[in-house]
Amino acid sequence: MRQLVLLLCIAAAAAYSPLQYMGDQLLALTPSTQEQVDILEQWRELGLLGKETDFLDFWSGPSAPGRSVQVRVTRKQLQGVKAALAQHRIQYRVSNPDLGRLFIQENDMNRAAFDDHSKYHRYAEFHAIASALISKCGSQCSKEVIGKSIENRDIIAYKLGSNSANPMIFMDGGIHAREWISPATLLYIMDQVISDPQYRSLLDSWNLVFVPLANPDGYEYTHTSNRMWRKNRRPGRACYGVDLNRNFGFKFGGTGSSGSQCSDVYRGVAAFSEPETQAIRNFVLRNKSAIKAFWSVHSYGQYWLHPFGYAFGVNPNNVAELLSAAQTGARALQSVNGRRYTVGHSADLLYPAAGGSDDWAISIGIRYAYTLELPDTGRYGFVLPPAQIVSVGRETLAGLAAFLRAV
Ligand code: ARG
Ligand code: ZN
Repeated sequence: MRQLVLLLCIAAAAAYSPLQYMGDQLLALTPSTQEQVDILEQWRELGLLGKETDFLDFWSGPSAPGRSVQVRVTRKQLQGVKAALAQHRIQYRVSNPDLGRLFIQENDMNRAAFDDHSKYHRYAEFHAIASALISKCGSQCSKEVIGKSIENRDIIAYKLGSNSANPMIFMDGGIHAREWISPATLLYIMDQVISDPQYRSLLDSWNLVFVPLANPDGYEYTHTSNRMWRKNRRPGRACYGVDLNRNFGFKFGGTGSSGSQCSDVYRGVAAFSEPETQAIRNFVLRNKSAIKAFWSVHSYGQYWLHPFGYAFGVNPNNVAELLSAAQTGARALQSVNGRRYTVGHSADLLYPAAGGSDDWAISIGIRYAYTLELPDTGRYGFVLPPAQIVSVGRETLAGLAAFLRAV
C-alpha cells in the first residue's frame, strides 16, 4: 500500500500541468517587409529582450514578407510583445485568446481514454502497444533497437513485411517532441496494416519501417515537464536541446537553423552530432539499396512537402515524379474525411530549413522523400485533441496506400 501511494505521488509529480498555459495567446503575425521578418527571426534567436525568459514560442515560421507567422505568447509576455509589435509596425491578429483551455481539454481527454488510439501514450506504454502488435503480426514483422537516445532510451524501428526482394519505405515520427499526432498516427497505421486484411496485403509488395518515436527523451519531456518542447534533451552550457531536424548531414548549418544553443532550431555542433540522428542515418545507410521511399512525419499544417527544404526554389531532378506521387497520395487522403493537404515544395510553401531528414534522404539517392505535416491547419495546432487520432490515422493510411501503389 505504501508503495502504491508512493507510486501515485511520483506519477502525479511526473505530469506537466496544463494550467500553466492559462491566459497564453496564439498570435498570427504578418510581417510585410524583410526587415520585419528579420526582427522576428531575431526574437526567435535571442528572445524579445535578449533574455532567456523572453523566448517566444514560434509554432510556425518566420519565412518571408507576407507569410503568416504563428507565435504562442505567454500571459506574462503579452503586454511587452504587443508593444514591441506596435513599435515595429508588425501586423497581427489574435487567433486564440486563451490557449489554456486547449491544453486542459487535451489533458482531460488523455485521462478518459478508452482504447489504444484515443490517447497520446507515454514512451513505455507506446512501445508496449507497438511490441504487442509485432507479436500479433507473427513472422512477417519484427522490431529492432537502432540506437540509444542521449538519456539512454531505446530508439526502436518496427518492420512490417519480410520479403527482402520488396522495396522499403522508411518513416520517422516524433522527431519534434511536441508533435504528438505524429507518433500516434504511425501507431494507428501499424495497427491497421497488421490487423486489417485489406491493408495487410500492402506487405505483399512493400516493407514498411516505422521509427515512430525518433526523439524519445524530448517526447517524455513533453509529458512530464514542458508540453511545448521541440528538441532532443542534449545538455548544454546555456540551454538544453538540439533540433534533430536541423542536424542531418546535407546543407548542415544553412538557413532556418541556428547556431545558438537556446534557439528552438539549434542545429547542434556538427551534422549528425546527436545519437538520435545517428541512429536513423545508420539504419538508412545500412538499408539504402532497398529504401525507395522516405517519410518524415510532423505536424501541423496539412502539407505534403517535397525537397529541397533548405532553400527557396531548389528542386531535385525528379521533382515531377515527386509531385505527382504526392498528389496521388493527397487525393486519396482527402477522399476519407475531406481534409485538404497542400502539396508542393517544402521551403516555398512553409519556410527554408536546412538539415532536415528528408533533404538528406534525397541527397543519398532515395527516390521519394517527403515531409508530411499532419493536421490541423492551426485551430488546435500541436494540441490536437486525441479524439482525432483515428480520423487522422485513417486518412493518412489511405494516403500512404495510394502513394505506395503509385510509386
Ligand atoms: N516543420 C518541419 C521543420 O521545421 C519542416 C521540415 C521540412 N523539411 C526540410 N528539410 N526543411 O523541421
Ligand atoms: Zn516538426
